[in-house]
Amino acid sequence: MGISYNEKSRSFKLDAKDTSYIMAVVDEENFLGHVYFGERIPDEDVNYLMRLEEPPFVPSKNNRDRMSFLDSFPTEYPTFGLGDFRESCLKVNTKSGMTAVGINYVSHKIYKGKPKLQGLPATFGSKEECTTLEITCVDKHLKLEVILIYTVFENLDAITRSVRIKNNSDEDIQLTRVLSACVDFDRMDMDVLTIHGSWARERHLNRRSVTYGKQAIGSTRGESSHQMNPFLAVMDKTSTEDDGEVYGFNFVYSGNFLAQAEGCQFDTTRVVMGINPEDFAWRLQPGEEFTAPEVVMIYSNEGIGKMSRTFHDLYRNHLIRGQYKDKKRPILINNWEATYFDFNTEKLLNIAKEASKLGVEMLVMDDGWFGNRNSDNCALGDWVVNEEKIQGGLKYLVDEVNKLGMKFGIWFEPEMISPDSDLYRAHPDWCIHIEGRVGTLCRNQYVLDLSRKEVRDYIYESLREILLSANIEYVKWDMNRQLSDVGNNILPAGCQREIWHRYVLGVYELMDRLTSEFPHILLENCSGGGARFDPGMLYYSPQIWASDNTDAIERLKIQHGTSMVYPVSAIGSHVSDCPNHTVGRVTPFETRGLVALSGTFGYELDVTRISQEDRDMIPKQIEMYHKYNDLIRKGDLYRIGNIFEKPQFDCVEYVAKDKSEVLVVYIQVLSRPNYHSRRIRLKGLQKDAYYRNEETNEVYSGAALMNAGILIKGLWGDFTGKLYHYIRV
Ligand code: GLA
Repeated sequence: MGISYNEKSRSFKLDAKDTSYIMAVVDEENFLGHVYFGERIPDEDVNYLMRLEEPPFVPSKNNRDRMSFLDSFPTEYPTFGLGDFRESCLKVNTKSGMTAVGINYVSHKIYKGKPKLQGLPATFGSKEECTTLEITCVDKHLKLEVILIYTVFENLDAITRSVRIKNNSDEDIQLTRVLSACVDFDRMDMDVLTIHGSWARERHLNRRSVTYGKQAIGSTRGESSHQMNPFLAVMDKTSTEDDGEVYGFNFVYSGNFLAQAEGCQFDTTRVVMGINPEDFAWRLQPGEEFTAPEVVMIYSNEGIGKMSRTFHDLYRNHLIRGQYKDKKRPILINNWEATYFDFNTEKLLNIAKEASKLGVEMLVMDDGWFGNRNSDNCALGDWVVNEEKIQGGLKYLVDEVNKLGMKFGIWFEPEMISPDSDLYRAHPDWCIHIEGRVGTLCRNQYVLDLSRKEVRDYIYESLREILLSANIEYVKWDMNRQLSDVGNNILPAGCQREIWHRYVLGVYELMDRLTSEFPHILLENCSGGGARFDPGMLYYSPQIWASDNTDAIERLKIQHGTSMVYPVSAIGSHVSDCPNHTVGRVTPFETRGLVALSGTFGYELDVTRISQEDRDMIPKQIEMYHKYNDLIRKGDLYRIGNIFEKPQFDCVEYVAKDKSEVLVVYIQVLSRPNYHSRRIRLKGLQKDAYYRNEETNEVYSGAALMNAGILIKGLWGDFTGKLYHYIRV
């Protein structure tokens, strides 16, 4: 287990649970190459795989063909401009205008534990759980040091990577491209899986063949985005949910990113991931360092499902932090879809009173409580309670809610400023903007320049004042537009392109301050629904609002796609009213509850105005949540249905880690004439154990449930749902 270095073969072997990752130093010039990534193997020296004896020869033996070597060698961290024409990870702009970089191995160290990344979110693990390797490479010409950092998690098939660049020269060097990871796969017969979407339909799946050329996804929107998620997997073409080799990559970052699989001339595939080089630049002064965010690499030999479960375990145990990390979250009711901007103390208290009777545990006051925010046209930045709406003040409202036995949560959009706000009138230069150019509005708002300390401090203080003024136990942190017109009049011209990354670092700093000063507050991230559902955000908030689309059927797709990478415990999911506000669909209240169970669970409706029949169902749903949430939150997720491939139904299964219990959630999407039942096979059970169906008391072996299956009966009507709970006897 762990990491070893073999002096003789000059190879590094990284062993995670059932995974090996091997690199080797070759030639007199010390090129660092990638050798193997896949199922665990005992051998340390598999350097024969590097084809060094075939043409092209290594430079020390055949410098005449140096370029052929560089352009085919599986370089561990490729650099730009010297003859490797595939995608590179590092490129510079020197004082004299040169862009090329060439790095070679110099030294390494191996140690227990995992280092923090300065100012950045990252996975963490103890000395017992992790081993780290730091490989130092140097470009002697530029006096640039490149430290490649790898950590293996010994009980998971997870390896993380990041990169630190240090300028040891005596002049400024501008970094114009710093990606965090590259893997050269010695094959091209693979599929690539990515996650795409838009507002209200986030994280749908897209699978296609790797082919010659670059298949890239990314964001240049300043956030990870609705459109593309910072995830990419390559896999056998035959890989399924349960079989085949899958390599998943996820970027622990919330800003611009690039993820790419490139089919190359010798039928190899180069996968890279990191900060999007588009419009990126970073000045490194002599002695300064730049740390690139972390990439998580997951290997699965049992299909896409196992990849997801490994991501979930890693993120639940080694990324998500805070008091709610392993806890059931309070069931909340949010007033957004209930009232939009039209609310006051009385309306909120009426909702809270009714909700508390039904078992709801927290009231969340959404957008509209501050400044003169009566529509989404104004007041962002004016974080002062509007006492015309919140009569009696915030403390009064919170105290009254607390008296009902409920917690209180509040909405903020700290990163934004409305042109029609007191803040903008006082500081028109505080938004990200290009001097003299009319800025692009979105939802009638601009983005605050969080690369500036005084702006961050001001915003933090205004949030802090509100949070200290009453017993607030939850914050929904929203971000409702993407970045454009990126510039300010503070940084020198040569550093203007740093704003993208400085902005993200600013957001992280604010969230760090908030979670450190208010550790009891449950932070839920949100970005126009789910535009910032990424591991960077999960480091600060244990849950993220998945989408503004609360329609139960659309949610099946969103939640399926989200669960590719992110644990169900993190997926913000609510029961809302019908016809659904986004798609107009009417689904049974019961089904909405079953779908929201596969998430944090809550309500987003005016409980005083729904039908008595629906209201009566709430206590039952809440009971269900309390009964099953531990299993759903902590268990292993098995996807049985695939709504993208078979839209007739969806089915997920949660199996307890000790396999003592299993919950099956089945949703019939489209009924089929004269088709009344469907057989589905369970997964992940103990073959030789017996399980009792809690409802019928029928007992079957795990082997029968997995191989023969269960019969879903009475398939009558669209959008109906069923729950099956089996307990090991
Ligand atoms: C975004 C969020 C919603 C709601 C509104 C308020 O769209 O995703 O949940 O908070 O903002 O303006």
